Amino acid sequence: MSSSALRIGFVGGGFITGFHIQSLVEVREVEVAGIASPSGGERCAELARRLGVGPTARPYADAEELAADPTVDAIWVCGRNDTRLATLEKIRAGNTRRARPLRGICLEKPLARTLGEALQVQALVDDIGVPTGYLEDMLFAPTLKRGKEVLWRRGAGLAGRPYLARAAEEHGGPHSKWFWQPEIAGGGVLLDMMCHSLEAARWLLTEPGRPRASLTPFKVRATTANLKWIQPEYAAQLRERFGADLDWAARPSEDFASATVHWRTEDGREVLTETTSSWCYVGAGLRHTFELLGPEYSLAIDMSRCGVEVFFSRRVSGEAGEDLVEKQNAEQGLMPISPNEPAHYGYAGENRHFARSFLAGSRPALTAADGVEVMRVLMAAYRSSEEGRAVDPADPALESFVPAACRAAAHS
Ligand SMILES: NC(=O)c1ccc[n+]([C@@H]2O[C@H](COP(=O)([O-])OP(=O)(O)OC[C@H]3O[C@@H](n4cnc5c(N)ncnc54)[C@H](O)[C@@H]3O)[C@@H](O)[C@H]2O)c1
Repeated sequence: MSSSALRIGFVGGGFITGFHIQSLVEVREVEVAGIASPSGGERCAELARRLGVGPTARPYADAEELAADPTVDAIWVCGRNDTRLATLEKIRAGNTRRARPLRGICLEKPLARTLGEALQVQALVDDIGVPTGYLEDMLFAPTLKRGKEVLWRRGAGLAGRPYLARAAEEHGGPHSKWFWQPEIAGGGVLLDMMCHSLEAARWLLTEPGRPRASLTPFKVRATTANLKWIQPEYAAQLRERFGADLDWAARPSEDFASATVHWRTEDGREVLTETTSSWCYVGAGLRHTFELLGPEYSLAIDMSRCGVEVFFSRRVSGEAGEDLVEKQNAEQGLMPISPNEPAHYGYAGENRHFARSFLAGSRPALTAADGVEVMRVLMAAYRSSEEGRAVDPADPALESFVPAACRAAAHS
């Protein structure tokens, strides 16, 4: 941490804020000022103090107080999906109370629950008028960055551009109740996890140094399904874990999704992304893979295999937890572990990038506008799965589209 560090505040004190704070031990440019959250604020502040990344970190009453504090330079918005607009309104109110505006606002994925809401987020941050960042950690994961760099330099440079990117992220289901409530989350696994896979696959296919607009999505075909958690036994498990009012069997979104997106390059060629997401995967750790294929080469990354595995015999039966690897399914048997999850998943690189951009006053690699474009493709995927046809993400009707599960949940 340097004396000219960017002092950041978090809105939301849950799982992802904890991950960000852990990653900051590798980011010299940042100091945690505090956390505004209905729960977890003191826990996260204590973590920041203990790790030495926020010696004076403390809870704040709300996002407005955080934004109004002149010793806070930037805000990372990491609350529930349904709170983006309300949070940004509070940040706007706080920002107007300052002599000098905030230096930046970072927004966790997904940018919002629908494309319409994402456009409102964009309008609000435009009105606040400070630089923004869209937090997609996969684009900063060292394995993906290095793989993309080598493949494009050696493979594409000699044999032609890659034409197919595949990405999958599957685990056993999220940790907090609200992810399972479509009216709060905005959707199921398609919204929650395919935002990562789609954006990473698009980025792998994008020529280094070229803008997002160098690839245009023009056709999306998607399938969603309820494979596991809608079964009575598993719906009962969710009720037991999260409370009787969580009736996934009556008000489900989806626990499986796959999408094929067709993109047009600037010189008129067609390239594809194939993405799969699920909350019904059972295995050692996550299934978290990436592939990039071209005419004479390919890249393969298995994020859940870092070359370190542990094995516990049946005599070792510890408490359930996530201490081995994120979303671990078991505490016995063979389990892959990661030496440094916050860096491996890209959080350290991500936070370093956005902090440096805000300190330098330069435009970050991903802004709220990129989050809007991700939402456009996600809503096309929902519509495609509902209507059983290919959907063009440029269709303006998507701006008022709400996935069926959220429409149903909102009316029940
Ligand atoms: N980039 C990633 O890999 C990644 C991983 C997990 C979550 N996320 C995203 O981060 C966000 C938070 O997810 P999480 O896993 O930390 O959830 P969580 O349930 O662990 O924590 C949510 C936090 O938000 C707080 N909160 C609730 N209402 C709020 C409000 N009105 N204002 C401010 N805070 C409020 C809660 O008190 C809690 O501390 C979600 O949008 C999620 O999609 C991103």
